[in-house]
Amino acid sequence: MSSWVFAMEDDLEEEKIKLVKVAGKQILFIRKEGKVYAIGNSCPHMVCPLKSGILNGYVLKCGCHNWGFDIRTGENVGTGEYIDVPDPKVDTYDIELAEGKISVLL
Ligand code: FES
Repeated sequence: MSSWVFAMEDDLEEEKIKLVKVAGKQILFIRKEGKVYAIGNSCPHMVCPLKSGILNGYVLKCGCHNWGFDIRTGENVGTGEYIDVPDPKVDTYDIELAEGKISVLL
């Protein structure tokens, strides 16, 4: 059963990437055009941390081999098809903003 778990105070700046460990999961919080997105930190290619990636629009590019992921859906974007990783997707999480706090649905 899923429940809302407090993750952080809402001090996120636009387009900054903040890594927070929530209930044992490493989750990146990113504010883009005022909205907050939550996405897993682990790249499905070779497990590099996406925290060190570069945000270009809504696409977070992994710093290791440049795979891109849409921060809204976790879907792989613009890096073609891969035989070794059939479903190269990153987990995304619903978030709730209330009273200056960000919670995530786990
Ligand atoms: S580990 Fe992320 S692209 Fe290779």
